[in-house]
Amino acid sequence: MIAVGDSIFHPASCQRCHGMDAKGTVRGPDLIDDKWAQIDGTYPAIVAIVTTGVPKSKIKMASAPFEMKARGGTNLSDEQIRDVAAYVYTLSHHS
Ligand code: HEC
Repeated sequence: MIAVGDSIFHPASCQRCHGMDAKGTVRGPDLIDDKWAQIDGTYPAIVAIVTTGVPKSKIKMASAPFEMKARGGTNLSDEQIRDVAAYVYTLSHHS
């Protein structure tokens, strides 16, 4: 799941805002640290937020020019969302 998720994160939209290394850009937050703007960082919460996205009015980071669309603006399936969420989960739950 994690390897599949890694292979989804990079070609999908995610890296355009969250960075190739998922350390964040002006368009999207760091997903590696253990600080979360929107969620508590649990796996189900990651699945939920990637599915729904984050509307502009709810975004906390001031620099973000765009909302995060549902599914990151992609047509990822529910299964692919679960895979990419597993990948994101492991990024922030290292060591
Ligand atoms: C257009 C830019 C953009 C794209 C594309 C995008 N995101 Fe986001 N993402 C954001 C923004 C902005 C936030 C909210 C940050 C805030 O509230 O400060 C966010 C929040 C998140 C969060 C919650 C982070 C937190 O700190 O609470 C996760 C997890 C996440 N995105 C994963 C993904 C994944 C996985 C993809 C690809 C399927 C993706 N994002 C695609 C911009 C983007």
